[in-house]
Amino acid sequence: MERSCGFVTLFLLAVQTSVPYECTDKTCAELRDGGWSQGVETRLNDEGDCNIDIHNAESLSYTAFIQQYAYSKPVILRGVTDNTKFRFLCSKSHLLQEYGERTIRLSTANTHSYNKVDVRFEEFVKYLLTPQSVDSLGSETLYFFGDNNFTEWHSLFDEYDAPPYNLPHTSPAYSFGIAGPGTGVPFHWHGPGFSEVIYGRKRWFLYPPEQAPEFHPNHTTLSWVTHSYPGLGIQQRPLECTIHPGEVLYFPDRWWHATLNLDTSVFISTFLG
Ligand SMILES: *[C@@H]1O[C@H](CO)[C@@H](O)[C@H](O)[C@H]1NC(C)=O
Ligand SMILES: *[C@@H]1O[C@H](CO)[C@@H](O)[C@H](O)[C@H]1NC(C)=O
Repeated sequence: MERSCGFVTLFLLAVQTSVPYECTDKTCAELRDGGWSQGVETRLNDEGDCNIDIHNAESLSYTAFIQQYAYSKPVILRGVTDNTKFRFLCSKSHLLQEYGERTIRLSTANTHSYNKVDVRFEEFVKYLLTPQSVDSLGSETLYFFGDNNFTEWHSLFDEYDAPPYNLPHTSPAYSFGIAGPGTGVPFHWHGPGFSEVIYGRKRWFLYPPEQAPEFHPNHTTLSWVTHSYPGLGIQQRPLECTIHPGEVLYFPDRWWHATLNLDTSVFISTFLG
């Protein structure tokens, strides 16, 4: 079943580039979400505000990126990478077929990520990629992001077209992940980098280094959004935006950030260390 879906998707992608075609609802959804969507009822629909600058490749030169954003504030870049092939390789059927038997390492989704658990990729997709409820604790939620085995997964990561803007004196390192609707990493900070969603929508909340947000390190982002966010005064509001496939968010060094996956999301970060 998974295998034949993958084949159909490949066929449709090939057709799509040459002749226009009418796709049925099911095949359209498959192309759009890679087979990852778990049904409308599990999706969170509030994309929230967007108060972060958005640019495309034409409207932001590398020099302007360095001068206006690299060391001072987040920015969203639209259409700067072409990950059509990578997106196809990240469909659910393809990943299960290639990596189903491989072991992946999961972390608890709290600010300090205490626990690591190894599971087979297929087991993760079948049993652990579930929608998050608002009262589950981050410290009890297993999240697949980073700790990737680049030896086993190199044929996938080799196809990733990373954002074309680099920071001087840094080199890029990838972290790849897949997560269910309502999951996310609560506030934390580290070095600068980019985050791109391949499938699904991911909502971001960011604060500058000197404006540490109030949050409980073991509570999830969903719990923060539900209980704390509505009570924030104007001055306490974060920078925020929901990014979609084809968009890349840049976060500067030491900026606080939390993420919330609105759909089942496949995503990859490029850390500049
Ligand atoms: C990564 O995969 C290779 C090949 O299967 C294996 O030898 C190695 O131990 C793995 N590395 C980690 C950190 O699990
Ligand atoms: C968060 O969870 C970890 C692991 O369960 C625990 O050791 C730690 O004390 C908790 N921290 C707080 C502030 O509750």
